[in-house]
Amino acid sequence: MPVGCARKKNLNLGFFLNVSMHKGTYYREKLSADRLLRCYEIAPPRIKQYLNAEIQFVISNLRNTGLVLELGCGYGRVMKAISQFVSWIIGNDISKESLDLVTSYMEDCRNYAVFLMDASQMSFRSCTFDAVVCIQNGISAFRVNKKHLIAESIRVTKDNGVILFSSYSPKAWQARLKWFRRQSQFGLIGEIDKEKSHNGTIVCKDGFKATTISNGQFVELFDAFDLNASIIEVDESSIFCKVIKEK
Ligand SMILES: C[S@@+](CC[C@H](N)C(=O)[O-])C[C@H]1O[C@@H](n2cnc3c(N)ncnc32)[C@H](O)[C@@H]1O
Repeated sequence: MPVGCARKKNLNLGFFLNVSMHKGTYYREKLSADRLLRCYEIAPPRIKQYLNAEIQFVISNLRNTGLVLELGCGYGRVMKAISQFVSWIIGNDISKESLDLVTSYMEDCRNYAVFLMDASQMSFRSCTFDAVVCIQNGISAFRVNKKHLIAESIRVTKDNGVILFSSYSPKAWQARLKWFRRQSQFGLIGEIDKEKSHNGTIVCKDGFKATTISNGQFVELFDAFDLNASIIEVDESSIFCKVIKEK
């Protein structure tokens, strides 16, 4: 399926494609498609448990929801898991290579569409989605202006729709570090800079940097838009920020 096309013709998201402005990012250039998939394949058992718990939390919150958007969907790992529980799952990402892999990865799924699009500058109409999901620490991984990202998430969500963001719990630090060391050993990311990697931030000598968002930061980010964020720790591994877009 060509990037930017809805799978079925009756899905009208009212958007124009906006593919020209992507900043170069590590994920797009070095950690896309098969390489991104490999990161998840080699995850140690505790991380696989975390990844599964994260998806289960999303499913428990979005069961029977109509139109759901995943920001930074990669090759479709999360979309595939939740597609059977929602009417439509839409994903966007800045990596064309990852989006190209979605078609084969999603196999028989028919209720999805993906778009090459920066999550902090989306081309969807306002108030389009029943729910917007940005998990796997996307808010840190995207390396975009966080306020813009939150503003865009709120804008494209319908009134009374749900917004879910997740980052890592501080309790997951050792397991997360082990996973990233393994990614480095497999040549998927650069050598970990041990001196600079601490307090929720992982830095590699080749320029990769992954931070985390605290409970307080999530609350503050949504407070700026007069929205209350509920913070939920899941599996002692992720921190979810759940917001209802109340008018
Ligand atoms: C940690 S991966 C997670 C992928 C997917 N959500 C998952 O859990 O399997 C982060 C993804 O965000 C994408 N990404 C990076 N910057 C982005 C941006 N500004 N807008 C949309 N996606 C972005 C990357 O290409 C990558 O696929």
